[in-house]
Amino acid sequence: MGATQEQAARPKTAPKAALMASGEHRFTDRLGTWALIAGASEGLGAAFARQLAGRRVNLVLAARRKEPLEALAQELRSAFGIEVRCAEGDLASPATLDKVLAECSGLDLGVVVCNAAQAPIGDFLAREVDDLNRVVDVNVRAPLLLLRGLLPAMVARGRGAAILMTSFTGHLGTPRIAAYAASKAFLRVLGESLWYELKDQGIDVLACSCGAVRTPGYAMAAGKEAPGTLNAEKVAKRALWALGGGPVVMPGFVNRLATIVMTRLVPKRTAIAILARSTRSLAQVRDTRSAS
Ligand SMILES: NC(=O)c1ccc[n+]([C@@H]2O[C@H](COP(=O)([O-])OP(=O)(O)OC[C@H]3O[C@@H](n4cnc5c(N)ncnc54)[C@H](OP(=O)(O)O)[C@@H]3O)[C@@H](O)[C@H]2O)c1
Repeated sequence: MGATQEQAARPKTAPKAALMASGEHRFTDRLGTWALIAGASEGLGAAFARQLAGRRVNLVLAARRKEPLEALAQELRSAFGIEVRCAEGDLASPATLDKVLAECSGLDLGVVVCNAAQAPIGDFLAREVDDLNRVVDVNVRAPLLLLRGLLPAMVARGRGAAILMTSFTGHLGTPRIAAYAASKAFLRVLGESLWYELKDQGIDVLACSCGAVRTPGYAMAAGKEAPGTLNAEKVAKRALWALGGGPVVMPGFVNRLATIVMTRLVPKRTAIAILARSTRSLAQVRDTRSAS
C-alpha cells in the first residue's frame, strides 16, 4: 500500500474526551512509547522528562551538559524502569540535530518537546551578532528541523504530539530581550499553524506559553527566584494534560490573566513600556555579573 493510501485507510486519532470515555487513556497507547525532550538537563525540560517517565514513556534527552543529562537519565531509569537515551550536544549545531534525529529514528516516538532556548539579555544594538545568530539557531532553526524531521513518521503512524515552549513575551514586544521574544512569537505561530495542519492526522501540536516559572535558568537570568507559585513540574503537567486541546495552553491563572490584560486591555505602547521596566532589572543583573 502506498503512503497516501495507507494514510487514507488509517483511523484518525479520536479526541481526548472520547478516548477517556472509552477507557483507552494510557498515555503511551494514545501517543506512543517514546518522547524526545530537546533541552532536558534542568528546569522545564527535566520536569517534562519526570512527568513523561511517570507515564512510563521512554525518553531521548538532549542538552549540552553531559553530567546533569546522565544523572537525570539514571534517576529516571531507576525510578520508573524506563529506557533513556542521551544525545549530548549543542542544538545550534547541525551535527547535534542529526545526532538527535538518528537517536529517534525507528522509535515509536509519541511526543516531541521543543524546550531549549537561548535568551541573550540587553539592548539589541549591544548584542554580538553571534549571540543573535544563536537565538535563531537554537530557538527557531532547531525546532523547525526537529519537527520537520520527526513529524512525518508520527503522521504515518497516525498518532503523536509536539509541545513548543513559548512565552508571555511571545505575545508582545519586549525590550532588552527582543530577539528572544521574537523567537517565542515565531514558536507560538508555528505551533498554532501546525496544530491546524496536523490535527486531522492524529497529531496534537501545542504551544505552551509561560510567564515566570521557577527554574535554574530563570534564577540565573533574573538573579532571584521567579515570583508566584508556578514551578516547572506544574507547567509540564499542565502542558501534557492539555495535549489534544491546542493550539495554545497558558499554565497558571496569573499568567493567563496577565496575558489577557496586557494583550487585549492595555494599549500596546503602554504594555511594551511596562515590559521594558521589568526587563531593566534583568539587564542590570547581567551587567553586575559581567562586571564582577
Ligand atoms: N523559566 C521561565 O520563567 C520561562 C518563562 C517562559 C518561557 N520559558 C521557556 O521554557 C523553556 C525552558 O525554560 P527554562 O527556564 O527551564 O530554561 P533553562 O533552565 O535555561 O533550561 C533550558 C534547557 O535547555 C538546554 N539548552 C539550552 N540551550 C541549549 C542548546 N543550545 N543546546 C542544547 N540544549 C540547550 C539546557 O541544558 P544545557 O545547558 O545542558 O544545554 C536546559 O536543559 C524555554 O524555551 C523558555 O523560553 C521559560
